[in-house]
Amino acid sequence: MQIFRLLDTLKTPALYEKGNASMWEDDHISRHLLELHVNQDSDAASRKRVTIEKTVRWIETFLDDSQKTILDLGCGPGLYCELLAEHGHRVTGVDFSKRSIAYARKSALEKDLDIDYIPMDYLDLSFENQFDLVIMIFCDFDVLVPHDRTRVLKNIHRALKPGGLFIFDTLNHKAPDTIKIPVKSWEVSNGGFWKNGPYLALSETSHYQAAQVILQQHVICFEPDHLLVYRFWTHYYQQEILESILNEGGFNVELVCEDLLPDDGSGTHDMVTFYVTRKK
Ligand SMILES: C[S@@+](CC[C@H](N)C(=O)[O-])C[C@H]1O[C@@H](n2cnc3c(N)ncnc32)[C@H](O)[C@@H]1O
Repeated sequence: MQIFRLLDTLKTPALYEKGNASMWEDDHISRHLLELHVNQDSDAASRKRVTIEKTVRWIETFLDDSQKTILDLGCGPGLYCELLAEHGHRVTGVDFSKRSIAYARKSALEKDLDIDYIPMDYLDLSFENQFDLVIMIFCDFDVLVPHDRTRVLKNIHRALKPGGLFIFDTLNHKAPDTIKIPVKSWEVSNGGFWKNGPYLALSETSHYQAAQVILQQHVICFEPDHLLVYRFWTHYYQQEILESILNEGGFNVELVCEDLLPDDGSGTHDMVTFYVTRKK
């Protein structure tokens, strides 16, 4: 292990500086992620089934009784898509994790649900005037850096029919107090979440207060002398700031809901806000 290289890697990065590795499409990690998505005992990667059911019922209160065309961005294994399809809607799910899309397709087939799953990056969406509703759930909106956020909002705006809805969740101003920051931890493993073989993981959560961004960084060290750096830059939003971003993107905010998620004692529910917005 080159200790000086490690010290250099652990220096505080500039805002939005990328790591050298990406988690979602890694074959080994995506296997663990899929397990987390479908694990009913954990709210990691996807929320628990009861919460998903509650969220879908709540989303449907903004729709009239007719069949709707719905696009789920970052659909993962299709947990929301399936419920919406079971309720009679025409659903399309987009995700760039091939493993999640394969799981979602198999599950839909087994349940005889006609859902269109597309393995792609939602930065590259080209749908036009096609959907009554777009959803993006599990605070995926928060990890978009500003130029990607503008691009995704443009894509969603184009994909929606006139007056269509965009419903999503974000971390709110309570996030920095709820997530313990700064925090450092380490893990030595013979094989686990990050890698099949032995590794040392050095993890750190830090706060870029002026930008209202939280960085979760994981540096994975393994033989012979490899360092993988995973960085997740996550925004939390004050309502007025997000409203102005959405307005600029061509959306009116119709409703802000701060108490949709059930209180599980972790405080997590308190730091998530749902936005119901409509294409102008
Ligand atoms: C935290 S998971 C949430 C999954 C799902 N929305 C849920 O709540 O069950 C985020 C998902 O977004 C996908 N994702 C992240 N960035 C993406 C992108 N740029 N294009 C497509 N999918 C993306 C990941 O592969 C992952 O499945």
